[in-house]
Amino acid sequence: MTIPAPLPAVPLLHARGVTKSYAVRRAPAATVLSGIDVDVRQGEMLSIVGPSGSGKSTLLYCLAGLERADAGEIAFDGTRIDGLSQARLARLRRDRIGFVFQSYNLIPSLSAAENVALPARLARRRTPDVPAALSAVGLSGHGGKRPGDLSGGQQQRVAIARVLAAAPDLVFADEPTGALDTATGGQVLDLLRAHATGRRSVVLVTHDLDAASLADRTLILRDGAAVAELSRPMPSDILDVLHAAERTGAAS
Ligand SMILES: Nc1ncnc2c1ncn2[C@@H]1O[C@H](COP(=O)(O)OP(=O)(O)OP(=O)(O)O)[C@@H](O)[C@H]1O
Ligand SMILES: [Mg+2]
Repeated sequence: MTIPAPLPAVPLLHARGVTKSYAVRRAPAATVLSGIDVDVRQGEMLSIVGPSGSGKSTLLYCLAGLERADAGEIAFDGTRIDGLSQARLARLRRDRIGFVFQSYNLIPSLSAAENVALPARLARRRTPDVPAALSAVGLSGHGGKRPGDLSGGQQQRVAIARVLAAAPDLVFADEPTGALDTATGGQVLDLLRAHATGRRSVVLVTHDLDAASLADRTLILRDGAAVAELSRPMPSDILDVLHAAERTGAAS
C-alpha cells in the first residue's frame, strides 16, 4: 500500500491584505490594490484575470517582491518577504522566483541565448541547456539574434525560455501569450502548465479566458479588489463573474 505524501502545511505563497497606492505628482494617492488575499499552493497554477487597469501587474510585482506593498503580509515558503532587506529579497528572487514581464525586459545588447543564460550567470549557477530552452519555445536557430532583431512574439518567448530554464519554484507570468498567435501561445501555456508540478507553482495573469481556465484556480480582480476566486472554472464561468462585477460596478 502506498501512503500519499502529506500536503504541505504552508502554501508556497501566502498573502493577506495586500494594499498599494500610487501618488502621481500632487494628485491624491490612487489606491491600486485594496487589501487582496491570495494563496498559491505548491504544484498549483493560479490564474488572475480582470479588466485593464484592475491592478493585475501591480499585484504580481508586490507578490514577487519587485514592489513594496504599502500594507499587508506576504510570505514565501513560510518567510515573510515584506520587510525583508533589499539584499535578502534580491537573493530570494534570484534563487527561487521567476518573472515573465508583460514588456519582456530582455537585455538588448545580449543575444537571445545570452539572455536565457543570464540568470544562471548572475547567480553563478551552472549554465542551463540554452538550446533546449529555446527549442521548447519554438526558437531553435534564433539563439544568436539580439532582441531588436526578433519580433515581439519571439522576444516574449525568449523571456519565457529565460525564466523556465532557471526552473524557479514560483513563476509569475504577466500576459505571457499577449503577443503570440494561438498555436505558439498554446505551446507556451503547455510549458507553464507543465512547470506547475511537485514543488513548483505558476501564477499567470491573462486576458485570455481559455488560458485562465487551464489553471487550478482563478482569481478575478476589479478596481484593485478580488471579486471572486473560482476553482477549475470554465471560460464561461469567468466571463459570468466579470460581467456581474461590471454590472455591480456600473450600479455603484
Ligand atoms: N508606477 C505607477 N505609478 C502610478 N500609477 C500606477 C503605476 N503602476 C500602475 N499604476 C496604476 O495602477 C493601476 C493598475 O495598473 P496595473 O498595471 O496593475 O493594471 P493591469 O490590471 O495590469 O492592467 P493591464 O491589463 O492593462 O496590464 C492603473 O490605474 C495604473 O495607471
Ligand atoms: Mg498589466
